[in-house]
Amino acid sequence: MLWEWSLLPLTAEWGREGLQIGGCSVPDLVRAYGTPLYLYDAVTLRTQVQTLEELLREHYPGEGLITYAAKAYFSPALARRLVALGLGVDVVSLGEFRLALRAGFPPTHIHLHGNNKTLEEIALALEMGIQAIVVDSLDELEWIETIAQERGQVARIWLRITPGIATHTHPHIQTAHAQSKFGLYVETGDAALAIHKARHSPWLDLRGLHTHLGSQIHDTEPYQRAIEALFALAEQTDYLPEEFSPGGGWGVRYQPEDPPDNPLPWVRAISESVTAACKRRHWPLPRLVIEPGRWLVARAGVAIYQVGAQKRAADGRHIIAVDGGMADNPRVALYGARYVALPLGYESYEGDLLPSRVVGRFCESGDVLIEEIDLPPLQRGDLLVIPVAGAYHLSMASNYNLAPRPAALWLEDGRAELLQPREDPLASLWWGDEP
Ligand SMILES: Cc1ncc(COP(=O)(O)O)c(C=O)c1O
Repeated sequence: MLWEWSLLPLTAEWGREGLQIGGCSVPDLVRAYGTPLYLYDAVTLRTQVQTLEELLREHYPGEGLITYAAKAYFSPALARRLVALGLGVDVVSLGEFRLALRAGFPPTHIHLHGNNKTLEEIALALEMGIQAIVVDSLDELEWIETIAQERGQVARIWLRITPGIATHTHPHIQTAHAQSKFGLYVETGDAALAIHKARHSPWLDLRGLHTHLGSQIHDTEPYQRAIEALFALAEQTDYLPEEFSPGGGWGVRYQPEDPPDNPLPWVRAISESVTAACKRRHWPLPRLVIEPGRWLVARAGVAIYQVGAQKRAADGRHIIAVDGGMADNPRVALYGARYVALPLGYESYEGDLLPSRVVGRFCESGDVLIEEIDLPPLQRGDLLVIPVAGAYHLSMASNYNLAPRPAALWLEDGRAELLQPREDPLASLWWGDEP
């Protein structure tokens, strides 16, 4: 199968000049902005947001809020659009935090994560009165209490709980298992102690409990177990949370054989689990906050690369080098992510396919974008479209080999607006006193 529409953004279609997304001609955009190029489709992103909002309204009888996990991809122009959609935001660094504030997120819609927050981040959170600082350890709890006391301000907090649940996802994107670096473990007693301490401190206002199991999860069962574990912990410590967040992490479809893109089982399972846990204890429903990142932006984005050098490897595979790679998409090297590539201009190709490997242009053997894929014989200059490229590509991009981070565009109604320009990596270097 050469061309897979169902992985592309919702507005992808054939125009007179080939592939169009958001009413814009992809070949025209490549001529104007060069490659690698990232394109985000407005309609797809808005549809993902609306779908989740409707599901939450339909399945959760209490108040619900969707907060976007900024780490998936964040830029001022994207952030302003997310503000307009009424989303909250989860930030994990001073950079993300300041961007969120400047883009207009109301502080009451921002929560601050991180397993090693800085003094500056905590001070800004207190100054702005954000929704919650999500406390990650007993050490941090005491530190935040001291800072709050010194400043004479009460810190609104959630506790991030690690219920010891492993998920069927790559070990590098699991976050709530027994060895996780994140959160307060239930098993060691840290979680119960943190609830006790927080409730007895005049400088801490414990608003809720949180857990995040990991990313790219397609199974509802770990969410149900985690929610029950957190409510059992709350009951044991005689604490009734006003807010509750089972994090984000719902998976998307990167390849045709992946499970279908459908958030219904996720939203239904967490809504029903929280409702049932409260009903059993005769507790009022908490405000339910979900934190998706990937599910909102992944499918909205595509990456466009240009084919360069090609060769045949000793194992018989055809090696196709493109003009990007691990510097703009480290997911393959980090955790073996798998993609398809759609060659532009070969949509109706019916000839022989070559067993191929798509590699990047960076000086690392692990800089492979697709290990195995059957592709037609391609020419230098052909364009490869990598679908589902909107999450954890550009936000994880680096300047390795002094590569410029690529340009990204927002496509809507036939207009393209910059989300970020192609970077000049030399501009940020320190040159000292040049002779
Ligand atoms: C605390 C927290 N919430 C939400 C997310 C978003 O996860 P995803 O993009 O898989 O939905 C992450 C991702 O690492 C996270 O660490």
